[in-house]
Amino acid sequence: MPRQLFVTTALPYANGKFHIGHIMEYIQADIWVRYQRMMGNSVDFVCADDTHGAPIMIAAEQAGITPQQFVANIQAGRKPYLDGFHISFDNWHSTDSPENHELARQIYRDLRDNVTGSLIETRTIEQFFDVDKNMFLPDRFIKGECPKCHAKDQYGDNCEACGAVYSPTDLMNPYSALSGAKPELRQSEHFFFKLSDPRCVAFLSQWTQDGKLQSEVANKIKEWFTQHTHQDGSTSVGLVDWDISRDAPYFGIEIPDAPGKYFYVWLDAPIGYLASLKNLLESRGVDYDTYMTNPALEQYHFIGKDIITFHTLFWPATLHFSGRKTPDNIFVHGFLTVNNGEKMSKSRGTGLDPLKYLSIGMNPEWLRYYLATKLSAHNEDIDFNADDFIARVNSDLIGKYINIISRVVGFVHKHFDGKILEFNPSPLETSLAHMVTTLRDAADEISTFYEQLEYGKALRKIMELTDLINKNFDTYKPWILSKDNRLVDLNDVCHFTLNAFKLLTIYLKPVLPLTAQKVETLLNIPAQTWSDIDKPLEPGHRIDCYTHLMQRVDHKQLDALFEPAV
Ligand code: MSP
Ligand code: ZN
Repeated sequence: MPRQLFVTTALPYANGKFHIGHIMEYIQADIWVRYQRMMGNSVDFVCADDTHGAPIMIAAEQAGITPQQFVANIQAGRKPYLDGFHISFDNWHSTDSPENHELARQIYRDLRDNVTGSLIETRTIEQFFDVDKNMFLPDRFIKGECPKCHAKDQYGDNCEACGAVYSPTDLMNPYSALSGAKPELRQSEHFFFKLSDPRCVAFLSQWTQDGKLQSEVANKIKEWFTQHTHQDGSTSVGLVDWDISRDAPYFGIEIPDAPGKYFYVWLDAPIGYLASLKNLLESRGVDYDTYMTNPALEQYHFIGKDIITFHTLFWPATLHFSGRKTPDNIFVHGFLTVNNGEKMSKSRGTGLDPLKYLSIGMNPEWLRYYLATKLSAHNEDIDFNADDFIARVNSDLIGKYINIISRVVGFVHKHFDGKILEFNPSPLETSLAHMVTTLRDAADEISTFYEQLEYGKALRKIMELTDLINKNFDTYKPWILSKDNRLVDLNDVCHFTLNAFKLLTIYLKPVLPLTAQKVETLLNIPAQTWSDIDKPLEPGHRIDCYTHLMQRVDHKQLDALFEPAV
């Protein structure tokens, strides 16, 4: 039975262009999705822009445009990245869509009106208010003097000079980063999601500890159920209620029956996964509710390790207590750094600009391959290293994999008119047949590695097999067979090598979709899926002439890539 999968990546903030960390997440998810599709499973793979919140509202104001126009501009720039790196999303939507407004409000009502008791509670809190701007200030927009080292102009949550962590009310001489005005403490009624409710605690301790999550993620979460350290350094025991509301003016979704109150962006952001899916299904004429109530539906979210809390506590609780399906798993990856740890900054990005990578003619599949060799099922950080990149691409991908096909095709055309001939028993045949069997027998191991997100292991295994083919090629020296006109042996070598190469291409296809397509054209075979591992090229099959499949990477390209923009 084919599986029915609903897969997402985290919704990027619509306040800036993609950086290479985003692209890594999309590549990781895309490889998994392509693998699942090759297995015959049905996958709906969606994403969207995360549009709401104070920072975007303020950025739009500073740009002199509406937040809607601001996020539309960002959204308009997404396609070249996604197409450029062959990311096969079925839909790209927005959290400011009608679907998301409607779903968020409905989910909230379901939480509020839960028949076993409401999960929503209101409470009055004190917050800094900017009198000039007439708005409550988000933490990031309150600045002042560090209470510890007295450094000036520090943010409301931590000090960049001494590293102290505190809350905005601890700042000395606080001022609004928006207007410069001295903020006033004012009271406001906020809505809370009762995470500390015993029903929530019981549900989440089960949901997070039942073995589905990566062990390092599950262990991290355990701490939140016992002792929890807050941003300001204070500690508390157990889960803390979650403040899900913000006061107007706010770019977001208005809370039902609460004029002037909006959902905090992190309440409606993950609901955007569902909104994007709903939008996709409606475009196909498929009923969203029917789709979601299919008990066989599996739901997976790929995210980075900085947003674990939102996805393993808030999100499953939101879904469960509003009577909805919870995710089957959350796949957490680490952070990508560039050239020894240069951190990716949300605002600055790094020296590795994904669009520049493409515009200077670097092959997107080099990056897909390189990142895949480094990815595992764990969330450790990954470093993009220029020399390592060159080595992996040139010696493995080109030197081992592409090398095989470029060596064999010429003989098939020179001696056999592009055809694979019936083979005659030859001493080479047994050993060559054994080589193909070895390749075929590795299918389940490789498949399991893909399924488990162990791409590095999958590619190491595939490269081992590639070595085996090259070794055989060197042993049987087809160039001598060709020169000596020993055509029976030569046909055997070519035939088995082509079949081995066809298997390799299937194994690599989730990572190298475009190259696989070119190989399919070259070998004159239909688009390959996983089950085609059992359909070798038969005698009489004619292949195309060799065309260049992939260039080597040049040092100069990496120099150009990292050259600072003028
Ligand atoms: N908008 C939120 C997510 C909402 S999901 C309902 C957000 N956006 S983000 O643009 O900051 O990050 C989007 C994704 O990119 C996150 O999964 C994040 O972990 C990931 N990455 C951000 N920087 C990254 C690296 N340097 N490396 C790898 N992934 C990184 O968070
Ligand atoms: Zn300080």
